[in-house]
Amino acid sequence: MDRVLILHGPNLNLLGTREPSIYGTDTLESINTMLSQEAIRHGVDLSILQSNHEGVLIDALQNAASERSIGVVLNAAGFTHTSVALRDAVVACGLPVIEVHVSNVAAREPFRHVSLIAPVAVGQIAGFGADSYRLGLDAVLAVTRRR
Ligand code: DQA
Repeated sequence: MDRVLILHGPNLNLLGTREPSIYGTDTLESINTMLSQEAIRHGVDLSILQSNHEGVLIDALQNAASERSIGVVLNAAGFTHTSVALRDAVVACGLPVIEVHVSNVAAREPFRHVSLIAPVAVGQIAGFGADSYRLGLDAVLAVTRRR
């Protein structure tokens, strides 16, 4: 069965209690449960990882292809705006990567308007709360299954 890697970056383990006026009240666990149900509906396997550590996220991207993932849904969180190394790993993994954000980063502080990931991602989905992930999964399947 096709596999999609869902990668959650730093502080996303705190979803639910972290700045709920910006990020909503869905927990990471509830988002992962919703994604797992969506995956069953689409007939794909998910590999899901959250890490607060840049290197762990990079390792996951490096291993994604050899672990038979066909694409990646990536919320790089704060690293989106800072990490050349994570961007390089997105390119190196050779898989289609969809960038997602829970909040609408374009409507927030100017430093969040810059994404180092966006130019090397297939596209970006932001501002739909937990649904950003569902749309991200739809997007990764749309691009991989039409290839
Ligand atoms: C975020 C947006 C980032 O700017 C922020 O640093 C996060 C979460 C989002 O999902 O809205 O941690 O990626």
